[in-house]
Parts: sequence; structure tokens; C-alpha cells
Amino acid sequence: MSAARAGPLFDDAFRENLGDLLRWRRDVRRFRPDPLPPGTLERLVATASLAPSVGLCEPWRFVEVADAKRRVAVRASFERENRAALGQQAGERAALYAGLKLAGFDAAPVQFAVFAEPDPEQGHGLGRRTMVETAAYSAVMAVHTLWLAARADGIGLGWVSILDPAEIGQALDVPKHWTFIGYFCLGYPVASADTPELERAGWEHRRPAAERLIRR
Ligand SMILES: Cc1cc2nc3c(=O)[nH]c(=O)nc-3n(C[C@H](O)[C@H](O)[C@H](O)COP(=O)(O)O)c2cc1C
Repeated sequence: MSAARAGPLFDDAFRENLGDLLRWRRDVRRFRPDPLPPGTLERLVATASLAPSVGLCEPWRFVEVADAKRRVAVRASFERENRAALGQQAGERAALYAGLKLAGFDAAPVQFAVFAEPDPEQGHGLGRRTMVETAAYSAVMAVHTLWLAARADGIGLGWVSILDPAEIGQALDVPKHWTFIGYFCLGYPVASADTPELERAGWEHRRPAAERLIRR
């Protein structure tokens, strides 16, 4: 265990770079097929594990999916759910939805799912008595940490949630009680951008942050 000590000081240049990292992190669906250097996922998972977690229970479970048959099963679930989602769109929205690329399965060299152990022994239940969902929140924090660390290395991450969680759990043979957080594609992006792809495609746009700050 490392003792408490004066930590690093972050200067203006670092803060500027951090702002750029946050502005240029993107959800990536278009990947180059080039492999990532060996050990990339292990390194990113180690960084992701620096994320906060309720009661320090570290409930995140990363499941790398390299097996071709399992990848096919995940992709089939996406295709079914994406068709169903398209069916719920009407008129111009349906045409717009049909043109969106919502997963990078075709080229992403590394793919993994993230689950949360909903009731881990680690952490001794601290913080979860009234809010069981905090285990899942903690796993999401780990995902975001990994997302930023990947982007800092020039690696893109794409989140796929258009899936049936039960099908994914079964396809990946994980304990039934785990909470499915998402499926992720990882690889070198075809391009970088400082605006979300959904904004560029005309699906949705971001609103001023001040509109999201409510005061009572
Ligand atoms: C919980 C969650 C689920 C998402 N699911 C999908 C998905 O299934 N397919 C997809 O293309 N993008 C998905 N995204 C990415 C969002 O569309 C994206 O984050 C958003 O449009 C903002 O773009 P940006 O991440 O590039 O800033 C998801 C993001 C989150 C946080």
C-alpha cells in the first residue's frame, strides 16, 4: 500500500490537454482493422480499475470476446435489436435511423463486454443498502476511465447497447446474475472528430450545459 503523499501538481498545459481529451473523446464505430499492440486491453483494464467504486467493491467484470462464434452471436443480437429499433421509428426519422452506423463489429480488432457483479462481497455492502444500482454505476465509471485512457493513446472505443442483455450473457457464458453494462469495440479509429457522429449525421445535437444545471 502506498502512503499518502503530496500528489502531482497539474499545470495549465495539462489542463488544456485534458480539455482536449474530453472534447475529442468520441464514440467510434468506424475502425481500421489493424491489430492493437499486444497487452493493450490488459493495460487499459488496469487503468480502468483506478475508477471509483461504491464501497471500493470494484464490481466491474471485463469479458474479452475473441471467439468467432461468440462474436457472431453478439452481432446477431445487435442485428435483431437494431431491426426492431428501426421498426419503431417513423417517417423521416426511420430513413435517418437506417443510415446510422451504430456498431463497429465489422472491423474492431478487440471486442469486450462489461458486466457488474451486483452484490460483491468486496466492499462489504457499503453504500449499496438503499441504492443497489451503485454497483452498475461503478462499472460505468470504469468504462469511462478506459474510454479516456484509450483515446489518450489514439485508440477508439465504441459502446454498443442495441442488444438483448440475456442473449449476451448466454453467448458469453457468464454468471446469470451479472448485470450487463455494454458491449465494446476497440481499435484505431478511421478518423477523429470533435463532434459526436450522431450530431454530424443530423440525429441529435448537444444543448448548452447551462440548461442542464438546475438550482433549487
Ligand atoms: C450507455 C450508452 C450506450 C450507447 N449505445 C450506443 C449504441 O448502441 N450504438 C452506438 O452507435 N452508440 C452508442 N452510444 C454512443 C452514443 O451515441 C454517443 O456517446 C453519443 O452520441 C455522444 O457521442 P460521443 O460519445 O462521440 O461524444 C452509447 C453511449 C452510451 C453512454
